[in-house]
Amino acid sequence: MPESIDYDAKIPNNVDLSSDRRLQRALEGWQPKFMNWWGEMGPTLRTQGVYLRTAVAVGRAGWAHFDHVNVPDYRWGIFLAERDPGRTIAFGEHKGEPAWQQVPGEYRADLQRLIVIQGDTEPASVEQQKLLGLTAPSLYDLRNLFQVNVEEGRHLWAMVYLLHAYFGREGREEAEGLLFRNSGSPDTPRILGAFNEETADWLAFYMFTYFTDRDGKYQLGTLKESAFDPLSRTCEFMLKEEAHHMFVGTTGVDRVVRRSAELMREHDTADIAAHHGIPLDIIQKYLNFHYTVSLDLFGSETSTNAANYYTAGLKGRWQETRRKDDHLLTEDSAFLDRPGEDGTWTQEEVQALLALNLDLRTEYIADCETGVKRWNRILDEHEISYRFSLPHPGFNRKVGAYADFHITPEGSIVDEATWEANRGRWLPTAEDLAFVRSLMHPVYERGKIASWIAPPSNGINGKPFDFEYVYFD
Ligand SMILES: [Fe+2]
Ligand SMILES: [Fe+2]
Repeated sequence: MPESIDYDAKIPNNVDLSSDRRLQRALEGWQPKFMNWWGEMGPTLRTQGVYLRTAVAVGRAGWAHFDHVNVPDYRWGIFLAERDPGRTIAFGEHKGEPAWQQVPGEYRADLQRLIVIQGDTEPASVEQQKLLGLTAPSLYDLRNLFQVNVEEGRHLWAMVYLLHAYFGREGREEAEGLLFRNSGSPDTPRILGAFNEETADWLAFYMFTYFTDRDGKYQLGTLKESAFDPLSRTCEFMLKEEAHHMFVGTTGVDRVVRRSAELMREHDTADIAAHHGIPLDIIQKYLNFHYTVSLDLFGSETSTNAANYYTAGLKGRWQETRRKDDHLLTEDSAFLDRPGEDGTWTQEEVQALLALNLDLRTEYIADCETGVKRWNRILDEHEISYRFSLPHPGFNRKVGAYADFHITPEGSIVDEATWEANRGRWLPTAEDLAFVRSLMHPVYERGKIASWIAPPSNGINGKPFDFEYVYFD
């Protein structure tokens, strides 16, 4: 791998692209399409320079460089993390064999499918967040939005590189498809449901980066275990960047909760809408929505596809190598809570291999709990007794074992009429959404912040909150 990256090259890279002219030409053919897509579907707000982090190396220390960059000129050079020459496959029927540097013919279609599904989410979120730059609560937040957007663009490139480099003509066609589908499009929507929902306001953005980017973390975590080494190395590096996206979500919700708590104390009322704050029950409804659409991304609790991917070595478990079992799972079982028509729950024993989606979702839910704890701690500090909570995993589901049932946030199985009658208490109503939207006004003066959110406790890269994170004309 080259020591330094040539940022003046058409496609800066760390994969020695110039040694493969065919691949280089193919990617150079895709690049203008990417730029068109970015111009049309990327951020609407025009800026002069944004204080952005660029990934410049794969090592642990000093991998990122910060500077003001004109967003469309943002260039990255990292496609893959470093190769571990001794890497072996950690699970499945090929366990112990050397990791694959090429795609085995028998797994070609499945691997391509996994890469396309992951790749499709990257540009989708940029599309969903297209308009948010028009209403950011501060320059700091605006900068964070663009950071997330350019990195999702880079993730798209990373997936397109794999498709072009390893999957021939079909891979190139799929790479076109990644720009052809669009979030929310009636005819050519994105593949996964959560990526067709609009991210219409900044509370939704923080919830998305907390819950949906966190789903991404878990999906990437399973692909990082893949026997196909280039995929593993791509995902490993993407995970580094995802950490910042989730930080934006975690601290974004922190700051909304903090501001709401301050307003409640100051005015001695829970009804802070009149004081331009977001009431806690609306925050909980947003949480319910974004959490449940993200749970749908894990797929059905039991899945033979997931079992086959695992056995073949294409997709592992979260932290596969730290698990203390045989990494084959042919003898193990798992338990699934099944809702019944009679309104009761039963526990069903299923083969562990079939329950890998459930396994991953369980890891994810435990992680999500940490955010809820943080937000409740903020309420506690302000001596407010209200508590946020994650709804039951059966609540509001469109995918899997719960999709045909009506389940309350507390986990009771109810009939459709009861559920619908309570919908407005559990999920954001049109009025809630309109109210939150009414608070969204851009605040682009240095050091200033919108009424409904507290400032961050720290700036970016050691800069203060009132730093000029974004230049306008
Ligand atoms: Fe991403
Ligand atoms: Fe992300």
